[in-house]
Order: sequence, then C-alpha cells, then structure tokens
Amino acid sequence: MLKEFELKEFNSYIDIRNGILHLEDVSLKELARELGTPLYVYSASFIRDKVRAYREAFEDALICYAVKANFNPEVIKVALSEGAGADIVSGGELYAALKAGVPADRIVYAGVGKTVKELEYAIDKEILMFNVESKMELEVLDQIAGSLGKKARVAVRVNPDVNPKTHPYISTGMKKSKFGVDIDTAFEEYIYASRLPNLEVVGIHCHIGSQLLDISPYREAVEKVVNLYHRLRKEGIEIRYLDIGGGLGIKYRPEDREPTPHQLAELLLPVLEGVEAKLILEPGRSITGNAGILITQVQFLKDKGIKHFIIVDAGMNDLVRPAIYDAFHYVLPVESKGREHIIADVVGPICETGDFLAKDRRIENLDRGDFLAVLSAGAYGFAMSSHYNVRPRAAEVLVDRGSYRVIREREDYDYILGP
Ligand code: LLP
Repeated sequence: MLKEFELKEFNSYIDIRNGILHLEDVSLKELARELGTPLYVYSASFIRDKVRAYREAFEDALICYAVKANFNPEVIKVALSEGAGADIVSGGELYAALKAGVPADRIVYAGVGKTVKELEYAIDKEILMFNVESKMELEVLDQIAGSLGKKARVAVRVNPDVNPKTHPYISTGMKKSKFGVDIDTAFEEYIYASRLPNLEVVGIHCHIGSQLLDISPYREAVEKVVNLYHRLRKEGIEIRYLDIGGGLGIKYRPEDREPTPHQLAELLLPVLEGVEAKLILEPGRSITGNAGILITQVQFLKDKGIKHFIIVDAGMNDLVRPAIYDAFHYVLPVESKGREHIIADVVGPICETGDFLAKDRRIENLDRGDFLAVLSAGAYGFAMSSHYNVRPRAAEVLVDRGSYRVIREREDYDYILGP
C-alpha cells in the first residue's frame, strides 16, 4: 500500500490517522458508516486549489470548468467560487451550470449534435460562445438565432490533426474523429460564418483529447490555432477568444507524473505571444478527478485457487472507466490493519465479466464488511454512472475543511423506475 506521502501526491488533503484514511480531516470510515456505500466523496479545497492554479498560471484567462467531468451543481459552485465559468456539451449541462449560478457570459458550448431545443435554450440564455462543429450547424444556428431575434456568438471548433497520444476513445483532435472541422477547411467556414446575418464570429475553439500526461501535442495544436488566428485577422475577422480546450492528464497510477497548469502555461504562453484574444481553457478531469474518492464495501471474498476475488458493492454502473477504457484506479483499504497481502481482482456485483474496478492488485487481505477506497474517481465517475441492473446511483458528499455535506442523496428504486 502507498505511504501517506505518496497518497498526498494524488490529493494533498488525504491523511492516514490510526490507519484510517481521512480527506480534509473527515474520516472516510465514519462517512461510509454514516451514509452507506457506494459513496462518492469530493474535496472542496482540492477543487478550489486547482481552479486557482489555472488562474494563476494563465493570468486573464477564463477557466471554463468542463461540467461533463462532474456535473453536481454543488461541485460546479465550488469551481465558480474561484472564478470559473463552464464548458458544456448539452442542454442538461447548461441547466446544471446555470443552476449552480454560473453567469451565462462565462459559458461555452461544444458538441457535434446539438438539437434545436438545446440551441434555442442556449441562445435564449445568451451564453458566451457556441463552439460550432460543422457547416450545417452554423446554418441551423444562424436560422434559429434569427427566428429568436438574437445574435449568436460563435467559434468554429477546429481539428488540428495532432495525435494526443492518449486512449483512442478520448482522442478528439485527429482528422478521422467526428469532432470539429479540419483546420484546412476551417478558414473557408469562417468566411462563410462571417457572412451569416445572425452570427457573430468571435472565437476559435480546439480540444485535442483528454488525459494528456505528455503535453507536447498541446503546443503543436495551439501553434496551428495561432496561425489560423493571424490569417483570420488579415481577412478582417476579429477573434476575441481563443479557446484551447481541456485535456491535462492526472495521476491515476503511482508512477504517473502529472503535468501542472503552470507547466502547461510555460509551454503555451510563448506560442501565444502577440495574440490579443482572451484565452479560454476547459479543464475537467484535472479540476475534479483527484478531488474524488469512491468508497465501497466488501460484500464477499472468494478464493478460486488461481485467483482471489474481492466482491464489493460498487460496480461498473457506479464507475465504468475500468470496464470501458481498461482504466487504472488505485484501490486501498479505508482502514489498514496491517494484515498480509494477497493478489486479487476487485469486482462489482453486476452480471458481466467486464464489471471490475481493479485487476491483479496486491492488496491487504480484507474481511467482509471492510471498506475500500477507489482513488481518482471525482471526474467521469458519478457523471458516467448508470442504472444498469436497476442499481440506484451512489450518494455524493462534499468535504470541506473538517466538515461534510451530502450533495446528492442515494437514489431508490422508484426513482429509477419512474411513476
Ligand atoms: N472540452 C471539450 C470540448 C471536451 O470534449 C472535453 C472532454 C473537455 C473539454 C474536458 O477534458 P478534460 O480536461 O476532462 O480532459 N470519459 C472519459 C473522458 C472523456 C472526455 C471527453 N471530453 C474518461 O473517463 O476518461
């Protein structure tokens, strides 16, 4: 098991006291006993620190927290308290951001398949910028804005065709992906958009992928975007916002080296010299990922001779990342009792072989009823959870400097089944 100082590399608010994991001075064992499991716990101070780190590294930039990573309005509020805006990808996320109190003029909206209803909703709220992903979307947006008697501010999402060297399912900036417009044709689309009467071209958007531990592809993408910026200016198209997306990777494995917002700024600011537009970033995972821990309880232990299984009450419906990306999440007992270690798979109760949280891990030999902590679960954890097998979704708790607050109650069966 990792030592306390190693756990602090995931989240500096983690402590071990008498063998028991604490987050922001709150005992995770007490929380699990009090509120039941599976339970998502998020650290508010961590989220504040991360937003602040971005704002300090990129002075004057607008940090639009990517709500898709964790849409709980109380989590969004914490980011907002440090001056964040929101990056959204659906009407539901717009609703969540507004519910949290994010001002509309700090909201940017990307996504390849925005519906008429969603576009109307966002135009009506007068969000800062639509990150448009196709020519047809430009036309539809223009038409809807016209019918509402409004102007929509737009950026074209350009696809710089760089390889972000991350999991293929979360690479978005390559030519063959569904996202954005090829950077070569983007210029033409800008000219086209600038002639549409109900659109106001204000920005350039680009996002190349997620969980980037090597940030060098970011630079390549931004260089291409800056090049386009200058070409457009020459054409008389004034770009006020340069939205360079999210994607900074986080530590999942003990050996991962996590790039910081400061390192990203050092890499990118020289490329951005001479650019007069306001910079926008859309970090999601790096804001909430390591703020969160999923707590689960051991139900049964099973020794199949060639393999040990630790069967817990959180399944792929609660945390799907291991099942769909083969993602690694560090798992450790909430209370270490110094027992011997075994090699085991940590699996959920769902009727699928893909229902695992961790594979072939060296872990303390646990008892039925013990609690386990799954680290780095604050982003794309609850947000991607489902009701598969009619399993109510977990409760969520926010801890903040010694106190805690339930920010989403555990669901019950009627909630799932509806009236
Ligand atoms: N902006 C846009 C346009 C995006 O598509 C995304 C993520 C972000 C910002 C935020 O990226 P981040 O800073 O979180 O890397 N479910 C996957 C991740 C999918 C990311 C989708 N887009 C996972 O669990 O790894």
